[in-house]
Amino acid sequence: MTSPRRNVELKARDADPEATLRRALELGASDEGVLRQRDTYFGRARGRLKLREQDPGGAQLIAYQRPDDAQARTSAYRIAAVADPDALREALDAALGTRVVVDKRRHLLLYETVRIHIDDVDGLGAFVELEGVAAPESDLAREHELVEHLRAELGLGEPVPVSYSDLLLDEPQALLAAADEVMRTAHAPYSQFKVGAALRTPSGAVHVGANVENVAYPQGQCAEASAIGALIAAGEREISAVAVVAEKLDVCPPCGGCRQRLSEFASADTPVYLGRPGGQLHATTIGELLPLAFEESALG
Ligand code: THU
Repeated sequence: MTSPRRNVELKARDADPEATLRRALELGASDEGVLRQRDTYFGRARGRLKLREQDPGGAQLIAYQRPDDAQARTSAYRIAAVADPDALREALDAALGTRVVVDKRRHLLLYETVRIHIDDVDGLGAFVELEGVAAPESDLAREHELVEHLRAELGLGEPVPVSYSDLLLDEPQALLAAADEVMRTAHAPYSQFKVGAALRTPSGAVHVGANVENVAYPQGQCAEASAIGALIAAGEREISAVAVVAEKLDVCPPCGGCRQRLSEFASADTPVYLGRPGGQLHATTIGELLPLAFEESALG
């Protein structure tokens, strides 16, 4: 184990990763290439414990503490090289359990001592991270200054004060809150049964819809169908997570027709969150809701 190291970090959502890359190169940052990183976070640890598997590169076990405050944060961490990541992942999973897995594509640039990460995170979308790597004797003033300079020059928006792992762990609550909000707009004068649906896409965007009933009852449309319409209207085609909320049911299982509709744009392992914000959560998947699905391959 190394002695603890410290960084100054800042993270923000990135509306236009290509423009950020161009701007960083214009500022004189060097292009260090693209990495694929998978971080597996384990449970029951003091602080945080993750196995990072990187391609190109090897695997490392990283232990760290991090306070969540909105400004550039400092973190202390320890790193150990890992020769057999599969065996270590299995051993730690058996002993501690796995909390969450973060998969991302990272374009890495270097500006003086600051690492610029242009990240595309599975299930969350695009972000920029600035990481001012501090020398052991540093009082961090220079690192804060460099990070602040890059933040202004790259035009980064509001800092996101939480880690990717926490954003993913909060995914059910964020999606349920979006579904709950849109549920209130439902047009359900005949059943008095309001439903809201929220769909996340791989870009990180969330599309929502509510049920729309009709006096000629069969013409009514479910919340999931409305949300799919919004997703398609936004030019998207893929669903990475689903939440459904109903006013009068703690857990509202999507109807059979909507399971088929959702599966058109999702895969068997796409998560489906049923419940209410802050309430009992029933987490399932498209594959569990619609086993033996009729799929495109059947058409030959
Ligand atoms: N409903 C949905 O919007 N989604 C579902 O998955 C279940 C049912 C709506 C349709 C109708 O407007 C009302 O709930 C009562 O069936």
